[in-house]
Amino acid sequence: MNFFLDTAHIDEIKKAQKWNLIDGVTTNPSLVAQTNYSHKELILEICNLLKDKPVSAEVLSVSSEKIYKEAKELAKIHPSVVVKIPLIAEGLKAVKKLHAENIATNVTLCFSPNQALLAAKAGATYISVFVGRLDDIGHEGCEIASQCHKLMKEYQYKSQILGASIRHSKHIFTLAQAGIPISTLPFKVFNQLIQHPLTDIGLKKFLEDAKKSKHLP
Ligand code: E4P
Repeated sequence: MNFFLDTAHIDEIKKAQKWNLIDGVTTNPSLVAQTNYSHKELILEICNLLKDKPVSAEVLSVSSEKIYKEAKELAKIHPSVVVKIPLIAEGLKAVKKLHAENIATNVTLCFSPNQALLAAKAGATYISVFVGRLDDIGHEGCEIASQCHKLMKEYQYKSQILGASIRHSKHIFTLAQAGIPISTLPFKVFNQLIQHPLTDIGLKKFLEDAKKSKHLP
């Protein structure tokens, strides 16, 4: 499974980069609004940090023509930019045009398999299924992401389902079991994946025992 980091915070990206386990970054307008950067500056800085890994930058327009123009501008920032476009009819119209021009897209705010089918048909590179927000309204977010993924395989669409709106590590395990190719995680959840109290207790004991031994340095 590929792990993207769902953040606009440079410090979080730098920390996660040190572990060398990050395959991309996704941002959204709410995340960008938490920073003091202009959108363009921020995306450029993230792309430079991530080298050739995909960085999703979201459009704010809602009409197909404006989305298309905005997408072209965002794509000019850096070759790693993936343009994030909302899953609305006007958005999919723009996705189709961008796909024809080989511009990568991340169709966002996907909440159903039918929506995912349409995004795939339009030529989306990634389709972000918002697992946590589905859970919030009493649906099974991971199950819906899994249904979307099965449809991609069934119809041999190239679009990749991206598990988004991740709230905790159990989401990741469930999505991984369903074979979801990518998940985008907040830094907090990424940290949760790595940690286990028994690992810490076990390591402490090994090191204490090693200090007591004459046979270990
Ligand atoms: C997806 O790419 C979004 O940036 C994100 O996962 C939304 O998550 P939230 O529901 O925690 O805002």
